[in-house]
Amino acid sequence: MTQIQATPHQNNFGARIDGLNLSKPLAPETVEIIRQLWIDHQIIYFPNQILNHCDLERFTRYFGDFGTDPYIKPVSGHTHILEIRREPDEAIAPFGASWHSDWSFQATPPSATLLHAKVIPPIGGDTLYADGIRAFAALDIGLKKEIEQLTALHSARRPYSHEGFARNSSHKRSMTITPDDNAWDVQEHPLVRTHPESGHQVLWINPVYTIGIKDIDEAQGCQLLSDLFAHALAPQFIYRHKWSANMLTMWDNRSAQHCAQGGYDGHLRILHRTTVAGDSPV
Ligand code: SIN
Repeated sequence: MTQIQATPHQNNFGARIDGLNLSKPLAPETVEIIRQLWIDHQIIYFPNQILNHCDLERFTRYFGDFGTDPYIKPVSGHTHILEIRREPDEAIAPFGASWHSDWSFQATPPSATLLHAKVIPPIGGDTLYADGIRAFAALDIGLKKEIEQLTALHSARRPYSHEGFARNSSHKRSMTITPDDNAWDVQEHPLVRTHPESGHQVLWINPVYTIGIKDIDEAQGCQLLSDLFAHALAPQFIYRHKWSANMLTMWDNRSAQHCAQGGYDGHLRILHRTTVAGDSPV
């Protein structure tokens, strides 16, 4: 009988999970416990899991179909695994180094992202997570009522258009990123979404992909967004995640946004990433 030990963080945003071997198939009731821990804590992490590509794919599929991952070349032979890699001599900003929820510009953004650590530098390379549930709950009632009515505009243009910041430049980058004109497409999502499983309301905007607010004057929309970003990314809503080699981390992309940190120039960092398909935010 599996002994799952969950150690939640003090504020419940994040939990360490021990007692499982994820390189072996899991019983449905074990998967159900993990699913509930993921919903309750938003970020769950399993240290010391030696996983090959097939193990990572199998574990991901327990939570739904694979998501669709555009713009980045996947691992050869494994179309749903991206390698997040930065070599010791890369001077370019790390991949994912600005606050975002994964692919929020899609009509149905992923529900979960999973990241498995292969090589972790001795310094730096943490990932920050921000809790969109507590951020919404902490707003004053008047602002809550105002923004509940609003529709946010999301687009991949800032990183992934041909002019975007992730385009290939003269600097070395180990990951192959393919910009596309479709990055200019705009997707509408509620600015406050209701989590489909926990029922919590979430402040669901992020500085990379949320480019404006529908039916609001551009300058006014920018000001409101920048005030809301400042609120959502205040220190009390942030958790700094420290990696170790072979740790698997799975987060709820419907309520948490994240930001990769640098600080490890001269060292290699490699993680493998999958996503789980989500539904249309409401
Ligand atoms: C990502 O944004 O998915 C990458 C996060 C990280 O490398 O820490």
